[in-house]
Amino acid sequence: MPLLTRATALARLSTLVAGLALAATLVLLGRPLIDPPLVRGLGALPACRYDDILTTPRGYDDWRITQVDTILRVSKAYVPPGLVKVSSLGVPGSGQVRGVMADDLKAMSDAAAAADAAIGVHSAYRSYATQQAVFAKWIDRYGYNEALKVSARPGHSEHQLGLGIDFRSDPPLATLSGSWGATAAGTWMRRHAWEYGFLMSYPKGKFALTCYSYEPWHFRYVGRDLAATIHASGLTTREYLWANFTTTVVPPPTKKPLTTPRPTHTAGPVATVAPARTHAPAPTTAPAPTTASTTPPPVPESGPPSALPSLPTLRPTPIASAGPTTPTAQIEPSMLAGAGLALGTIVLGSAWLVARRGRSGVGL
Ligand code: DAL
Ligand code: ZN
Repeated sequence: MPLLTRATALARLSTLVAGLALAATLVLLGRPLIDPPLVRGLGALPACRYDDILTTPRGYDDWRITQVDTILRVSKAYVPPGLVKVSSLGVPGSGQVRGVMADDLKAMSDAAAAADAAIGVHSAYRSYATQQAVFAKWIDRYGYNEALKVSARPGHSEHQLGLGIDFRSDPPLATLSGSWGATAAGTWMRRHAWEYGFLMSYPKGKFALTCYSYEPWHFRYVGRDLAATIHASGLTTREYLWANFTTTVVPPPTKKPLTTPRPTHTAGPVATVAPARTHAPAPTTAPAPTTASTTPPPVPESGPPSALPSLPTLRPTPIASAGPTTPTAQIEPSMLAGAGLALGTIVLGSAWLVARRGRSGVGL
């Protein structure tokens, strides 16, 4: 009888050890333990600053609620699954998007065209490498500090999620700028995009909340239900995700160097050209931030289009470095360590149980 009791206890302990190990593995892999609607964010919206913290949740199935901003990032290996060509959807424009938005993108495009506000896709999915080149282009044009306000560092862009799209009018106008927001297409998108699951990520006058200048053309797909909820909340997508879904614990700013320091050379040809911005260029002699806690100064978000010559406009967007379209494991060293720890716990626990069984001679 005592042996049976011990066997029962050992069985329960074994289950507990295995459960803890599984939970540790899931947490370390960045997946919530409960469904997204029940997950609550951990803290208040951080002030604008620059850091390189891996975002959670970031599983490919968590696409609706994965947050990237000037602080949070995904890894270089993040290549969303199920990318589809925009041209294959019967939507004007080029590039690839996550297949999860295909039906809504097509429906939105058709509705905009029917309202004499036809839209097209100017820039869609960007790999880490493409975003690196885009960011470098903006540094060349505006200098590092100003580039930070209009372009995401690699790993930090919604374009890498396959969910961020820069829209344009169809047929395309000569350039995109802040004034696009006042065109028929821009106005229609501001009013109706949310009905199709798309939200403007960087609205006018919200720099302190989004940490980027006004981009009337940049929308993030989150699905119709969540888009309707966020739209009704009156919050920016960043605020809403931080408050409700982002579970990343953000430590205080440190002096550690950023993952994306100021490049020392000009990047090669840029496959995707970001649209021209409305704000005046900053002196390019401004020093680049050297710490993770630099807060950008206020940015003028309205006014006449920049007098700068436009970047080459609206070239097709080859996805040279798009990588595979099947799910790819996003493995970071910390994940490997975590998975190893969990596995070790299971192995050691099992070995201990086997040893105990050998001594007691009782099967479990
Ligand atoms: N322009 C936005 C911030 C991006 O680069 O993703
Ligand atoms: Zn964009």
